Amino acid sequence: MEQYAIKGGNPLVGEVEIGGAKNAALPVLAASVMTDETVYIDNVPDVRDTKVLLQSMESIGVQVRHDGRHKVVVNGGQIHSLVVEDENIKKIRASYYLLGALLGKYKYAEVALPGGCDIGCRAIDQHIKGFRALGAEVVIEHGLIKTKAEHLTGSHIYMDISSVGATINVMMAATLAEGRTIIENAAKEPHVVDLANFLNSMGADIKGAGTDVIRIRGVSKLHGSDYTIIPDQIEAGTFMFAAAVTKGDVVVKNVIPKHLESIGAKLLEIGCEIKEEDDCLRVVASKPLMHTHVKTLPYPGFPTDMQPQITVALALSRGTSIVTESIFENRFKYVDELIKMGANIKVEGGDTAIIEGVPGYTGAHIAAPDLRAGAALVLAGLAGEGITVVDDIHYIARGYEDFHLKLQGLGAQIELVNSDRELQKFKLKVG
Ligand code: EPU
Repeated sequence: MEQYAIKGGNPLVGEVEIGGAKNAALPVLAASVMTDETVYIDNVPDVRDTKVLLQSMESIGVQVRHDGRHKVVVNGGQIHSLVVEDENIKKIRASYYLLGALLGKYKYAEVALPGGCDIGCRAIDQHIKGFRALGAEVVIEHGLIKTKAEHLTGSHIYMDISSVGATINVMMAATLAEGRTIIENAAKEPHVVDLANFLNSMGADIKGAGTDVIRIRGVSKLHGSDYTIIPDQIEAGTFMFAAAVTKGDVVVKNVIPKHLESIGAKLLEIGCEIKEEDDCLRVVASKPLMHTHVKTLPYPGFPTDMQPQITVALALSRGTSIVTESIFENRFKYVDELIKMGANIKVEGGDTAIIEGVPGYTGAHIAAPDLRAGAALVLAGLAGEGITVVDDIHYIARGYEDFHLKLQGLGAQIELVNSDRELQKFKLKVG
């Protein structure tokens, strides 16, 4: 079983290159099957979730070729099945993006119900409502979501909740529907905008992505494209917080600073310095961290995917902080692990963490409960005194490429170990 072995206490210093955004790459890859022509997608992160999606696309006849580590060439001209149900696809959330993509193109799709991180109930009613509004039938049977339509017709859809996944799915299907679709209360996340830009580069007519009203004029056909995925806001944010908790000085390179404003604002509030240069941000943490309050919100608010990382920092700050999770109902499971490291945090009502800052963490044997919490626990290990061992790091591999190697590049003492012997060797090496 793979684990991370960490010796904490080193300030992280240096530069780190941020990769393509997982949550943009997944819908873009799914949407690439919507044309019979070849699509070239660059800056695809080499993480487990993108690999699983690509394998599932191959299982229905999509041709996938890698041109280097981050460029993927996709051709969806010879799809032979509209049923996506291989074992792996059930484990990722983005499996359902193939529903919107295939429904739009073929007016038929069956896809295994989505998995993803266990961070609370993850309903799909808004996806279903959107597909039905476009004229599709949707049923859930035998663990599959099945959808079909004679014709898809544009519609005026009001989303009851701002959902990234539902906005993306409906946008894909509506792109190849007849007539005009308006999505109200649409999600505004950067990856929603990236997908709209990608679809437009294939000949779609989508306006307003990034605002809460998206207008789509259906087109009959899409064509090939050559597209580069945006940088990963959450990977960048995670390294920014790695600087904060280790009292370090880190430059995140190849980022879009606009996407990092809510994260940077909180780092400033807790006493870090931030310097912006073109597509880089430098985070310097030379002073003791201060407490603050934070509530997760849809973009441009503070992202739920950064909630565990900021909690790890606030648990080391002076005073009392309150973190409120407003997107998912069960996203504080990692707090029990942080408590093993000496944190003083109480979770109330499932959505509020009350944090009394402590002077430091002590290394412990802990386990990652999901992707972002896993990364945050690694940051705690890097900030802590002594050795931390993190189990279940397969979650982290879902969304962070070369996480430990990038951290090593900043001076972290972290290694991926595969056995007790390797762990003992690490302990001997770091002393
Ligand atoms: N919701 C509904 N009905 C729906 C859809 C969503 O009630 O039909 C609710 C959810 O239960 C949740 C809220 O709406 O409470 C927001 O869910 P959303 O649909 O926006 O999230 P998602 O599409 O399932 C994506 C990311 C998540 C990220 C959220 C919020 C992907 C593959 N996943 O999930 O990323 O936390 O948006 O920004 O894009 C991660 O990368 O670690 C991750 C969990």
